[in-house]
Amino acid sequence: MSDNPEKIKSKLEKLRKEINFHNLHYYKDNKPEISDFDFDILMKELITLEEKYPVYKTPDSPSVRVGGEPVKGFETIKHEPPMLSLDNTYSPNELREFDARVAKITTEYSYVVELKIDGLAVAARYENFLLSVGATRGDGEKGDAITENLKTIHNLPLRVETTETKFKKFEVRGEVYLSNKQFEIINTEREELGEPFFVNPRNAAAGSLRLLDPKLVSKRKLNMFVYLLVAPEKYGLKTQFETLTKLKAMGFPVNDKFQKCGSIEEVIKFCNAWEEKRHKLEYAVDGMVIKVNEFAKQDILGFTAKSPRWAIAYKFKAAQAKTKVLDITVQVGRTGALTPVAELAPVFLAGTTVRRATLHNEDDLNRKGVRIGDSVLVEKAGEIIPEVVKVLEEERTGKEKKFKMPTECPVCKGLVVRKSGEAISRCENLKCSAQLEGRLLHFSSRDAMNIEGLGKALVKQIVELKMIKDYADLYTLTIFDVANLDRMGNKSADNLLKEIAISKDRDLQNLVYALGIRNVGSRTAELLCENYATLDEIINAKKEEISKIHEIGPVAAEYITEFFKNKQTKEVIEKLAVAGVNTKRKQQTQIKNILKGASFVFTGEMENYSRPEAKNIVKTLGGKVSESVSKVTDYVVVGSAPGSKYEKAKKLGLKILNENEFLALIGKDKGKSKLV
Ligand code: IVH
Repeated sequence: MSDNPEKIKSKLEKLRKEINFHNLHYYKDNKPEISDFDFDILMKELITLEEKYPVYKTPDSPSVRVGGEPVKGFETIKHEPPMLSLDNTYSPNELREFDARVAKITTEYSYVVELKIDGLAVAARYENFLLSVGATRGDGEKGDAITENLKTIHNLPLRVETTETKFKKFEVRGEVYLSNKQFEIINTEREELGEPFFVNPRNAAAGSLRLLDPKLVSKRKLNMFVYLLVAPEKYGLKTQFETLTKLKAMGFPVNDKFQKCGSIEEVIKFCNAWEEKRHKLEYAVDGMVIKVNEFAKQDILGFTAKSPRWAIAYKFKAAQAKTKVLDITVQVGRTGALTPVAELAPVFLAGTTVRRATLHNEDDLNRKGVRIGDSVLVEKAGEIIPEVVKVLEEERTGKEKKFKMPTECPVCKGLVVRKSGEAISRCENLKCSAQLEGRLLHFSSRDAMNIEGLGKALVKQIVELKMIKDYADLYTLTIFDVANLDRMGNKSADNLLKEIAISKDRDLQNLVYALGIRNVGSRTAELLCENYATLDEIINAKKEEISKIHEIGPVAAEYITEFFKNKQTKEVIEKLAVAGVNTKRKQQTQIKNILKGASFVFTGEMENYSRPEAKNIVKTLGGKVSESVSKVTDYVVVGSAPGSKYEKAKKLGLKILNENEFLALIGKDKGKSKLV
């Protein structure tokens, strides 16, 4: 694009408008008009242009939602006025008592009743109509400045929809939360990565807001409801009802289930109705908040040391039901974690029939003293995962049976180990079929062996059809095995096998990460390979020696040495070596990442490299390869007899490289040699 400022500005405006339009369809109406892939392309185009012309980047650009640079810590923000909490009530009678206290002090008031969203309170300050500071509640007096994290919340406006000058500067407060669906998605991902679960959406939202990398926060897809404007009377507002309506008109996400009630009996009726219906909502609600509607009356009522006298929370009872434990079984997760599970006599609880409940781990089970045959109370923890909360010991007959955690994996009979200081018992067998799917996905992931095309659906089939026993068996798959899988033609089977074969040549640190050693992420793998040149050296390294490496602690060192001692590990590593997988550190690590972030498209035949080889080189150097040419392609590499991609690249004015130019770019201009 030419550097004509007007043209650039209008292009940027058009892109922002388009992205905002698609965001609206995606989130508000749940009806996306374009695929996620196309959306990402638009966003990438916007980001690239804004990076190139930073003067034209606006503070309310949708690219802000993707998250800025990581921070080292959060600054402290003083809340003015403090963020108070509310008194809790648990029964209609306590609500009547609250009303009596209000009636003693003032008259002719009404109430506004809102859902009590189960998330965490935050403050958002706006200056010049723009979101300028975001903060957690903290201790109420002071909180953490999480501005960049708050900006990733798609429904919190970056710029308010008003030109009224009185709203140039103001503060709103509200609740950040995760939808039930998003909570499930995050926990599934965590399971795949071998990370501990969040027990409920509230914890997940809290954990997400505290992340130091806004890009990661953005991926969590947090939501927000705004329920309060600080000093509303300054803006000419007289009631909470009016304020919520105004905030909504200014573009704030206001939960629309609020209602004005003339009497406490009306309030109770409204609360009861929501106690019944709350499980149908897409987010967790743990009660109702009752607020005196008129600000003049609120001012008269004032505050106690901790909370306002003009508002109260009515907490719902956690949904509980009584049932019997028919059996206790053990589930083996994808990471090898053994979880005891209570098999229950079916019981209806908060909208669903519950048949199983988690007992978390051995300690938790012992603490609760659950036995097979016990009558128990089950509860929906955080409104989602059923949990056994209490044994009704008085109902025991003496026939109940105690349960012991197995020392053998119920799936593969492998050794179960519970490390000291850990609550979780795990199956250590690298070949355990319960873990195979997770291990394969990890093995083929980007920072590991980067086997393109080996995604979730394929891995699932490979495991279900028992085609392989461990990840080393991937290298024994034949075209006959692969071509028979669902949605696999000969060509895609051939491509997949090529990708698998190419992965043998990945660097040692990729292999070490791919092995799936507990507590060994890609950074630890990198550190290991900076200190040891071959896999054999790592295998033979002593625990004490590894734990001396800066950044690798004794815990990871223990996991590493234990991992390599295991008999099944030895067998799998032997198979990898026989298959020809590289187990040595490559020499030219210093040129790694020279293509960082750049996207390539290849067309036509090259003399020096086959297409998969060229692709692998680009990937190893940190670049990306795409099949089709678009505005976001950085380089189009053209060999002999190129196809239509070449024409399109010319039309779009993209950077076109011939084979020699490509070789020069990757530092290989003097004939072919193995690069990586
Ligand atoms: S009003 C001074 N309204 O519940 C009054 N709070 O203990 C401030 N919450 O800390 C709170 N939904 O995190 C209010 N509609 C709502 C709410 C709500 C959830 C949370 C908030 C607050 C806690 C009260």
